Formats: sequence, C-alpha cells, structure tokens
Amino acid sequence: MNENPIGIFDSGVGGLSVVKEIIKVLPKENIIYFGDTARVPYGTKSERIIKKFALEDVNFLLKYKPKLIIIACHTMSSYTTEFLKKKIKKVKFVDVIEPTVEKAIGLTKNKKIGVIGTTATISSNRYQELFSKYNGITVYTKDCPLFVPIVEEGWFENKITYEIANFYLSEMKKNGIDTLVLGCTHYPYLKKTIQDIMGKNVNIIDASYEVSVKVAKILKEEKLENKSGNGEINLFFSDISPHVEKTIYFLFGKKIKYNLTKNV
Ligand code: DGL
Repeated sequence: MNENPIGIFDSGVGGLSVVKEIIKVLPKENIIYFGDTARVPYGTKSERIIKKFALEDVNFLLKYKPKLIIIACHTMSSYTTEFLKKKIKKVKFVDVIEPTVEKAIGLTKNKKIGVIGTTATISSNRYQELFSKYNGITVYTKDCPLFVPIVEEGWFENKITYEIANFYLSEMKKNGIDTLVLGCTHYPYLKKTIQDIMGKNVNIIDASYEVSVKVAKILKEEKLENKSGNGEINLFFSDISPHVEKTIYFLFGKKIKYNLTKNV
C-alpha cells in the first residue's frame, strides 16, 4: 500500500490522454501531471534538448514524491527512457512505447503495421528496433509534425484537420496495413479523423490504455497500490493557453482544476 501519487508528464496536453485511462483503470490512485505547454512541441527538437527538458520535467514531479513516473510522450520515451532510468534511481519509470508494440503484435493479422509519430520519434527508429524482434513484421512509418500544434490549438475534428490528416496518411493507406500505432500521445484526440481516413478495418492503437494496464500490473506486483485513496488529480502546466480548459473538457467531459507552474 502506498498513497504517493503516480507522476505523469508530457510536452503539453497529449499526456492527458494517459491520465484519462489511468483514472479508469486505477480510480483510487492520486495523480500529479505536468504538461510543458510553454515549450511544446518537443518532437521537432534535437535529442540534447529533449533530454534536457525531460530531466527538468521529472525534477518538477519529484517534488511530489511520486511512487512511479509515466513518460506519457513517445518522443521522450524514444530518447530518454534509458537516460532517465540511469540518472534517477529512486523512482520507477514506465514508457509508452513498449506496451504499444506488444498490443500491435497481438492484433495484427497480416503483419503489416504502421506507426505515425513526431519527427523525433520516427527518426529515433525506436519503434522499428522493437518490432524487429518479432518475425515477419513489416513496419511503415510516417511523421506527422503538424498534428501536435493542431491538437494544442484544440482543432480535434474540423475540415482542415481532416485535410492535413488525409495528406499525411495517403501513403500509409496504400501500404495495406491492418494496424496503425498512434505513436504520439497527442494523436488520440484525432482518433476519429484518423479512423475515418484509414477505414474501420484498420486497428488504431492508442498507448494510453495499454500503459495504464501495465502500470496497474506493476503496482500490484510491487505492492504499491493505493487501496483507500480518492483519486486526487493535480494538473500542472508551464503555460496556460486559452485552449487548455477546452481540451480538458473535451477529454474528461467536465472541468478539472489546473495550476500554472513557473518552476520549469
Ligand atoms: N505528445 C508527445 C509525444 O507523444 C510529444 C509531442 C511534441 O511535443 O512534439 O510524442
């Protein structure tokens, strides 16, 4: 039994898609979330900067003594998982890539899997490396850099978003994939648009649920569950854009209080 919160972080509002699933899977757990909205996007930045920002984000969360930290960002999961594990030993880190790969392998029938993500995630080759451990899998990748600012702007389902998604996904459609990994935590906001374009026969994989199940398993195995908590949620952002509130409402269907931190 451990009442300390689960720490969750991302470059912006993307990781809130992970918060949403964690609440469902682990309703008693307290959550501390940090979204670095002042410096988003990370996915267009270099490895050096992504590592620097990740470390600063984690140092902010550590003040709240989390029992486990979820790297709710595929860009940071690609470049910083091992780096953070080596640098900070007092807390366990869970990334969003491994559970997503396992889910995709379990679902694909024709062994053709697509991965879309930020430019940094796709060029890290992390997904390709992990899929290469399985026999006969062909991976098609595509970076979709405009998706992150579109989501931060709150344009989840409109005509322009559809046109941009259609442009990015046109090659992917021709590849005959049966499974598409949303390799960025901002992309679940665009899931409906992406599913419409890819067609209903393509499985769309969202890391948020998969990582929540993995975290639940770890907490149980390590006897770190909070069995009597009220599921307190504390959201922190490094800047409050006019869209933060709208995004929270879109995702959770209700208002959730959030705070501005100038500590990062
Ligand atoms: N949501 C993040 C990801 O999963 C990062 C997006 C960005 O900052 O570019 O990759």
